[in-house]
Amino acid sequence: MRSRVVPADAQGVAEAAKLLLAGGVVAFPTETVYGLGGLADEPGAVAAIFAAKGRPPINPLIVHVLDEAAARALVDWTPAAGALAASFWPGPLTLVLPRRPEAEVAPAVCAGLPTLAVRVPAHPVARALLAAVGRPIAAPSANPSGRLSPTRAEHVAGGLALPLVLEGGPAEVGLESTVLDLSGPRPVLLRPGGVTREAIERVVGPILVSDGDPDRPTAPGQLLRHYAPRARLRLEADAPRPGEAWLGFGGIPEGTHPALDLSPSGDLDEAAAALFGALHVLDAAGCPWIAVAPIPERGVGVAINERLRRAAASTD
Ligand code: TXA
Ligand code: MG
Repeated sequence: MRSRVVPADAQGVAEAAKLLLAGGVVAFPTETVYGLGGLADEPGAVAAIFAAKGRPPINPLIVHVLDEAAARALVDWTPAAGALAASFWPGPLTLVLPRRPEAEVAPAVCAGLPTLAVRVPAHPVARALLAAVGRPIAAPSANPSGRLSPTRAEHVAGGLALPLVLEGGPAEVGLESTVLDLSGPRPVLLRPGGVTREAIERVVGPILVSDGDPDRPTAPGQLLRHYAPRARLRLEADAPRPGEAWLGFGGIPEGTHPALDLSPSGDLDEAAAALFGALHVLDAAGCPWIAVAPIPERGVGVAINERLRRAAASTD
């Protein structure tokens, strides 16, 4: 089966909502990456998400809601959550909080954890879909588990066979949301992303950063190899070696082919938006190695480098 890709216009959204309400799954654009959604309170839909991605059942899903009030129906709210929601929602920040006992969420969403990850997306199509179904939508990134996240509908269709993919253009942020755990005494950054650590600390003060220790059970996503292109990556490269593709930042050495520049002007937001698409393209070109220029470790560059390190560490 091939995925059916339709424009994310009113008709497409209505069709997607109908599929969701019937217990199905659909892919849709968000401002970060494309998501694979199903109703969070439908165990069959949640099981279908795990099955489609080949996602290990220990890795919990993010639940998308329309606003703070809908989030508060699912999790125990805190003042820090309120301050962060006021600053960054709707937008690319996911908050992990204790799940309320009465929250209507299929148990598999939380993968056995007492916490739940909630996010209010900014993308108009994601919001239209949430409004149309009137219930929370569980949605991980719409890629096979361990592979690159999709920033375009064609990436989704290239990786998964789905009944419906809403085509809404390239994702604006291009990296997954920042995941912040607010369930303990101090906020812990579990995954760097579209909202930077500095921006979060301006609102709630100093936060802890997860060390990515694979034995830490609180960050299940970090147990897994992620963001794996087929090509191997060589990071912080000065120049391409013979036979290597080049992924540049602020310039491409003359005569290099294939080569892409994440941002000719050296802009980190532009680079973040371009990263996964560029890796998809260079991967499709079939080079065994991609050399990657150094990316500054500041702002959203931290999240770019984290994705690149994971991609480089993969072994298949
Ligand atoms: O930008 C995004 O967040 C995208 C779009 C579609 O919203 N979604 C996304 O989902 O990236 P996914 O499943 O690919 O990544 C979710 C991350 C995983 O690392 C997962 O382990 C973590 O969030 N997570 C989910 N629930 C959690 C929880 N209760 N405690 C700790 N980590 C959690
Ligand atoms: Mg993912």
